[in-house]
Amino acid sequence: MPRDVWVLHGPNLNLLGRREPQLYGREGLAAIDKRLAKLGETLGLRVASFQTNHEGALIDRLAVAMDEVDGCLINPAALSHTSLALADTLRAMTIPVVEVHLTNLYARGRERQISLTGGAVGGVVMGFGPASYELGLRALAALLGRSTRRGNR
Ligand code: DQA
Repeated sequence: MPRDVWVLHGPNLNLLGRREPQLYGREGLAAIDKRLAKLGETLGLRVASFQTNHEGALIDRLAVAMDEVDGCLINPAALSHTSLALADTLRAMTIPVVEVHLTNLYARGRERQISLTGGAVGGVVMGFGPASYELGLRALAALLGRSTRRGNR
């Protein structure tokens, strides 16, 4: 039986492809999401994606995820560096969560080398461009393979 997974994209990731392409590449979010859905099929995951520019919407969606899906892949974008509230939510999650970033935060400016969310999730994949998402989804599949299915399904 396939597992359900949500991919959650934070602020400004709707601009991927047009936004600082020298850093983030020329591929748009729709193309990334399409590839993730396809990869999910091979991993036994049903993948749905969601992007928001709003911190609270991301927090709300994570809370719902605990009841609705088996795991989450999240790119919190700049909120990784600023949002203690999001980090608190991630720490409260009862399902596996993997964080991804297109860029290597350790190779970025000082303000991006501090991550509030990185320590609140199961693990972080960063620095591989759009492939970070695919590697992250594989990591999530591996984590879900080890966990038992949620009791309410
Ligand atoms: C990002 C890195 C963040 O520092 C930045 O604010 C983003 C994108 C990444 O995927 O590399 O919006 O999360």
